[in-house]
Amino acid sequence: MDSCKEQEQQGFNQAKFVKVLGPIIVGAGPSGLAVAACLSQHGVPSLILEKNDCIASLWQQKTYDRLKLHLPKQFCELPLRGFPDDFPKYPTKGQFISYMESYASHFRIQPKFNQAVKTTEFDHIKGVWRVQTEDLEYHSRWLIVATGENAEPVIPDIAGYDKFIGNILHTSEYKSGSRFKNQRVLVVGCGNSGMEVSLDLCRHNAIPHMVVRNTVHVLPREMFGMSTFGIAMALLKWLPLRLVDKFLLLVANLILGNTDQLGLKRPKTGPIELKNVTGKTPVLDVGALSQIKSGKIKVMGGVKEVTKNGVKFMNGQEKKFESIILATGYKSNVPTWLKGCDFFTKDGMPKTPFPNGWKGENGLYTVGFTRRGLLGTASDAVKIAQDIGDQWKTIKGNDKSCNSHVIILGKPW
Ligand SMILES: Cc1cc2nc3c(=O)[nH]c(=O)nc-3n(C[C@H](O)[C@H](O)[C@H](O)COP(=O)(O)OP(=O)(O)OC[C@H]3O[C@@H](n4cnc5c(N)ncnc54)[C@H](O)[C@@H]3O)c2cc1C
Ligand SMILES: NC(=O)c1ccc[n+]([C@@H]2O[C@H](COP(=O)([O-])OP(=O)(O)OC[C@H]3O[C@@H](n4cnc5c(N)ncnc54)[C@H](OP(=O)(O)O)[C@@H]3O)[C@@H](O)[C@H]2O)c1
Repeated sequence: MDSCKEQEQQGFNQAKFVKVLGPIIVGAGPSGLAVAACLSQHGVPSLILEKNDCIASLWQQKTYDRLKLHLPKQFCELPLRGFPDDFPKYPTKGQFISYMESYASHFRIQPKFNQAVKTTEFDHIKGVWRVQTEDLEYHSRWLIVATGENAEPVIPDIAGYDKFIGNILHTSEYKSGSRFKNQRVLVVGCGNSGMEVSLDLCRHNAIPHMVVRNTVHVLPREMFGMSTFGIAMALLKWLPLRLVDKFLLLVANLILGNTDQLGLKRPKTGPIELKNVTGKTPVLDVGALSQIKSGKIKVMGGVKEVTKNGVKFMNGQEKKFESIILATGYKSNVPTWLKGCDFFTKDGMPKTPFPNGWKGENGLYTVGFTRRGLLGTASDAVKIAQDIGDQWKTIKGNDKSCNSHVIILGKPW
């Protein structure tokens, strides 16, 4: 270990303040890793602070076993290093995690784990971001927010939860349908998680009922042997968005039939336009629809209240359930820890829409908040690294001294 590294290790145990020479990245998910890798290509060191004890914790700890990428791998790879050639077109969750691990090790990315960022504020006098975790305060002139659009589960405010004697869990806690065998299960929500969890429950001989309170676009994952997403991306290069939406819906209806008759009414706005305007992701069907057609997944209307043994629905119907799974989505957590900064909405998303939401003021950046999945992450990471790389070149040698990326201080600098 060189002397800087030794100093760093010892210092972390004693110091209250840590000066970080390069940017501080909050979050070691795909976005944090991608931006750290791109920065390293510009010779810029960075420090990732991660609240959990592993990289890609959403994927490792909060996703179900049967999860596979919905989009072909070329749309989900991070910059500078793609998926291995022998991975299938739609990698499994395990393969995605192994890709993330080899990505981090290839670029020698070593996040500091168990460092939940509690508060962050820009210090206008010193011109630095003050990033506080439980035991330390980190300072840097750059802050990169990489905590994700899906940082916390959304738990809807439905009356009567406390009366229910069965299990209530969010999809972020669901692993497999095996523990629900022969149970009547209510899945609240019909996004990609709700559909796939319902399908998984069918495969484990449970009896899923899925709440669809609103309209929803369901598209086949593939059309004519090609990914629907890939076709849409290609067509958008040549045709107006609304025409592409019309085409997708025409083919979807030919392949899937009229989903309205199954209780899955389509929104008036087309799937891509809706995604762009509201962020609502269309469902890419991987088998749930045929289970709905066969009656194995039952479609229900909105929930009025939870009772001791089940649920009362808006239409007055009442049904018994042993478990309730909330497939009600996720939200950003930025407003809980980033203070005094009006770059974000109250929902924790950048106010400036894509493609310009990656850069704020005073050295603030965001990666992975484009509502465009991993494709958006890759685009943000490249732009941020270029921008900070240009600034880094102009910084005097003294401020980049010591091969280490941090300097330990016992008092504020
Ligand atoms: C079930 C599921 C399946 C998905 N499938 C796909 C897919 O196939 N393709 C696709 O493109 N997208 C998919 N997504 C979207 C997914 O969110 C992104 O692919 C990807 O995980 C985003 O990476 P990220 O790094 O921006 O966020 P995350 O993966 O959420 O990583 C953020 C990291 O920040 C950490 N963090 C949060 N708050 C703090 C804090 N205060 N202090 C320190 N660390 C913090 C978290 O612990 C986490 O490790 C899926 C999402 C879900 C929920
Ligand atoms: N294999 C994959 O690649 C994969 C798998 C799963 C998820 N994902 C991705 O992960 C992200 C999150 O997906 P998600 O499905 O977890 O969340 P989501 O897309 O936000 O869907 C949430 C669902 O819950 C419903 N809902 C919310 N509150 C409700 C309430 N009180 N009562 C009834 N329904 C309620 C919503 O209905 P309304 O529309 O009425 O609000 C919506 O149907 C998406 O980007 C998705 O594409 C990908």
